[in-house]
Amino acid sequence: MARQYRIAVIGGDGTGPEVVAEALKVLQAVSRLEGFTCETAPFDYGGARYLETGKIISDEEVAALRAFDAILLGAVGHPDVPPGVLEKGLLLKLRFQLDQYINLRPVKLYPGVETPLAGRGPDDIDYVIIRENTEGLYTGMGGVAYKGTDNEVATQIMCNTRRGVERCIRYAFDFCRKRNDKKLLTLVAKTNVLTYAHDLWWRAFNEVGEADYPDIKRDYNHVDACCMWQVKNPDYYDTIVVCNMFGDIITDLAAMIQGGMGVAAGGNINPEGVSMFEPIGGSAPKYTGQGVINPIACIGAAKMLLDELGETKAADRVEKAIMSVTGTRMKSMSAGKMGHSTSEVGDLVCEALGTA
Ligand code: IPM
Ligand code: MG
Repeated sequence: MARQYRIAVIGGDGTGPEVVAEALKVLQAVSRLEGFTCETAPFDYGGARYLETGKIISDEEVAALRAFDAILLGAVGHPDVPPGVLEKGLLLKLRFQLDQYINLRPVKLYPGVETPLAGRGPDDIDYVIIRENTEGLYTGMGGVAYKGTDNEVATQIMCNTRRGVERCIRYAFDFCRKRNDKKLLTLVAKTNVLTYAHDLWWRAFNEVGEADYPDIKRDYNHVDACCMWQVKNPDYYDTIVVCNMFGDIITDLAAMIQGGMGVAAGGNINPEGVSMFEPIGGSAPKYTGQGVINPIACIGAAKMLLDELGETKAADRVEKAIMSVTGTRMKSMSAGKMGHSTSEVGDLVCEALGTA
């Protein structure tokens, strides 16, 4: 049976469309080599459309995305749109309505990529952060009273459900089991202070682990300590599982450890539905249209998308090609300093696929 996939593509704002173009180039090249097809459909959601039409994305438009096998997102964010509007109206809406309950963030230092951690190289930095993506402090529960007065009260509730926590933890155990021989899953939380919310995480983690994953070593870090250990001993980690808000923070630290926004990619995953993959760097408005932005992160997002489609051979091939290009062809991962244009980097990765 011919393997045919339909990919929804949201280029988005700023440099989003430029990096997405390179990722699609690589996706098409690897699909020819591996014998499947990817049909793509573009969507114009993002800040530019919002400023023109006042519309972000409707429930019907979100529902229409369910018909696709996956979504590739460039970046959303526009200097003229106030903070929170696109985040809530687009990114979080997609996550919630498509029930993308996992935020998957591989933290791998590729050859030739500089890390700010002195004396560390690719052998030391290779772990994965699995962040819960639909609950915690992100649900929007809570409220404000007496706004603007001296008596203002504002609450934002950290919502944890046993079901939501457990499905994330199970995903993390499964992921850890498949990943390599280390089989070490670290729960990152704050059980010493969040004695209700993170006690739920702690019990779910140990109950599920004990019952169904006796082969996986269970480990625990408080989130503040995890920030120290990621810097001091990144080689310690294998797979981390963490709540939504803490995950947001520790994945940005991890992105820097793996070499920055030019290379960091992530997936918003619904293992039973449609998942969305993105470079995590944002729309980088000041570099827009110059052909200087690094597309490696977005190509890495395409690699993750292939994994989720089950095209693991193609995914491995893309990753090997990325590593050969970062290791031997690029001067830097920073915008404007790569020694190549955005589209040249895409071409180099396509070329490297041939030998990967
Ligand atoms: C991320 C981002 C988002 C988040 C923002 C843009 C809403 O920081 O994907 O990590 O907080 O989850
Ligand atoms: Mg973030």
